[in-house]
Amino acid sequence: MFNWFKRKNADQNDRNMSPVHLEAVGVDMHSHLLPGIDDGAEHMEHSIELILHLKELGYHTAITTPHIFWDMYRNTTHIIREQLAAVRQELQNRQIDFDLHAAAEYYCDEHFENLIEKDDLLWFGQKNVLFEISFAAESANMGRAIFNMQLAGYKPILAHPERYEYWHGSLSNYEKMLDKDVALQLNITSLTGQYGPNVKRISERLIDAGMISYLGTDCHHMGHIQLVNAARTNASLRKLLESGRLRNSDLITT
Ligand SMILES: [Fe+2]
Repeated sequence: MFNWFKRKNADQNDRNMSPVHLEAVGVDMHSHLLPGIDDGAEHMEHSIELILHLKELGYHTAITTPHIFWDMYRNTTHIIREQLAAVRQELQNRQIDFDLHAAAEYYCDEHFENLIEKDDLLWFGQKNVLFEISFAAESANMGRAIFNMQLAGYKPILAHPERYEYWHGSLSNYEKMLDKDVALQLNITSLTGQYGPNVKRISERLIDAGMISYLGTDCHHMGHIQLVNAARTNASLRKLLESGRLRNSDLITT
């Protein structure tokens, strides 16, 4: 009952907050905006629609990150670069001023390890690489993949750590990642409760503990645009933006 009341109060506080301006983030570094190559934008018109909405929310740049997950999305550096060029051309044709880049969201599987070995990773910023792990249990090869990425000079960023529920029991699971020099990227939409109250709660704890360096929209479709917009009244988001810890704007791509 007490927890319910506390949660209710927190939600009420969120509703009473004035929305933050996402110009303060400026650079989105996790999304699925390239048409037809993963579970994100379905076609070019959809890509452009999502980009226009991100722009309206205050973003001037996106480093979009299609899935590379060998069991489901067999994307390659070549496919991603080709699709990026097509969307950039369409933006230019329509005179839409938006800085679009692409990397990938690598699933930590055997294929990812092969790509690390071949030094064939799409990176952004200061050789940053976005990767995700299994939602079911900590990926057995995670430690080795992180080690090999770093050995090859990459700086790993773990996507949506708040969504790995098997880590929720202790912040030490997240500290271990920071100790390995893996930066953590929170999905803004997690702050709305989209993935459930536990994900929302741990998201706010991670922000309070100063563990989050990057924010991403993880935008796949219009539903996510609406959720990013809704998250703008979240008190923890405001706290993070005011903390000066956020490093999205450092992600200048070549
Ligand atoms: Fe994603």
